[in-house]
Amino acid sequence: MHHFIAGLPKVELHLHIEGSLEPELMFELAQRNNIDISFASPDEVRAAYDFTDLQSFLDIYYQGAQVLLTKHDFFDLTWAYMLRCKADNVLHAELFFDPQTHTQRGVSFDTVMQGITTALIQAEQELGISSQLILCFLRHLDETSAFETLALAKPWREQIVAVGLDSSEVGHPPEKFARVFAAAREQGYLAVAHAGEEGPASNIIDALDILQVSRIDHGVRCVDDAQLVARLIDQKVHLTMCPLSNVKLKVFGAMDQHNIVDLLRQGVSVGINADDPAYFGGYMNDNFYAVAAAHPLTHQELALFTLHAIEASFCSTERKHALRQQVHAYVDGH
Ligand code: HPA
Ligand code: ZN
Repeated sequence: MHHFIAGLPKVELHLHIEGSLEPELMFELAQRNNIDISFASPDEVRAAYDFTDLQSFLDIYYQGAQVLLTKHDFFDLTWAYMLRCKADNVLHAELFFDPQTHTQRGVSFDTVMQGITTALIQAEQELGISSQLILCFLRHLDETSAFETLALAKPWREQIVAVGLDSSEVGHPPEKFARVFAAAREQGYLAVAHAGEEGPASNIIDALDILQVSRIDHGVRCVDDAQLVARLIDQKVHLTMCPLSNVKLKVFGAMDQHNIVDLLRQGVSVGINADDPAYFGGYMNDNFYAVAAAHPLTHQELALFTLHAIEASFCSTERKHALRQQVHAYVDGH
């Protein structure tokens, strides 16, 4: 099973680039930028990654991102992630980035974009990995800040495929960003949103109806509303699930309690993703291994995670076709 998973072509649709910052790179950037990070070693940083819920993670995650200052830093961060994609046979990736985490510290939107996009272009040329970028608004900040961020993105419209919504879900429901998302859609962006991770199933419904998102990030709480699950199946709404993240943040007590395989077998379009791999204990292959270890799966079922992600991705019809072919060829070869 390990062997089949390792070689399986994959598509990642739920990855926060700031969440791929490994402690070793965090240390290197802190030194390069003369920033004091109050940890003695990368191992000490790792030992601090013991989370009780989403907020306990977010506090450390925003702190870690403070070492990112120059376009060189954002390039190194993104390039390191793309090399992980190559190692895990991820052929297409859609990356979230959190501009407000950086602009709030005086790092310009353009610096962030220059570093990330240079790495993505190089990854396409040298590694053959296609990608898209999704701008996430931090939901704990206000609507005005989100509108300011959308304005900063204007010169980069062609490089950003969609807007998203992340950070603390409880207390910051989708309707808080109804007008920003409407404005973004008006400008041609697609939309996605984190919903039903820690928050209620109604957040998933509101993300679909009010924010008009194309897919839902996490969405594990959909099971609290049978009518919603029926709607997700009927309307082929994709859920970008993140199994290791959910266990690390105590959304589920253990992997064998995770509902991803149940939902897959009910006919919901679900995929496997890493979310914040540097913080949650693994990249794409590790997430697949963890799910398969707790829930025995056939080759066809494992491949279905990728096939669902391909359909839900924001790549061109041609690229989707090519990706699908690679998955089918791989499964046929086993
Ligand atoms: N949920 C909400 N916000 C986030 C996450 C997440 O899983 N990862 C990074 N920001
Ligand atoms: Zn996430």
